[in-house]
Amino acid sequence: MHPALPLGVPEMDADHAALEAMLDRVPHTRDEDLPALYAAIEAEVTSHFAREDVLMEAARVPVLDCHRIRHRELLDAIAARRPTERTSPDALRRTFAELAEAVTAHVDTVDRVTSRFLIAATAAPLEPAQAVG
Ligand SMILES: [Fe+2]
Repeated sequence: MHPALPLGVPEMDADHAALEAMLDRVPHTRDEDLPALYAAIEAEVTSHFAREDVLMEAARVPVLDCHRIRHRELLDAIAARRPTERTSPDALRRTFAELAEAVTAHVDTVDRVTSRFLIAATAAPLEPAQAVG
């Protein structure tokens, strides 16, 4: 699977594609099944962010703390919008649309920056400067 915004880090791209596939199911999901899909997506985002945190820690990505804060903010926003028995299907569908936008913005900003550090960390180290003289 290829995500809409490939970043060149296989683990991130696979997770993002899986998340996009889940969000793509929203229009085809019956109203009564939307809350379960919301819970599944929240669980997937949570585990994806945890995997991304491990990658960043291993590579000592310098934007780790900032990126973690963005993860926390997004998880808090998802939790705050969890549907209740009073949430209408139309309102929940709008929440899914907002969630998809927030995920896309996250991938296109902090994930994009982080991917450059992850790619650089796995690239061959620079050759030490040749001694002159
Ligand atoms: Fe991220």
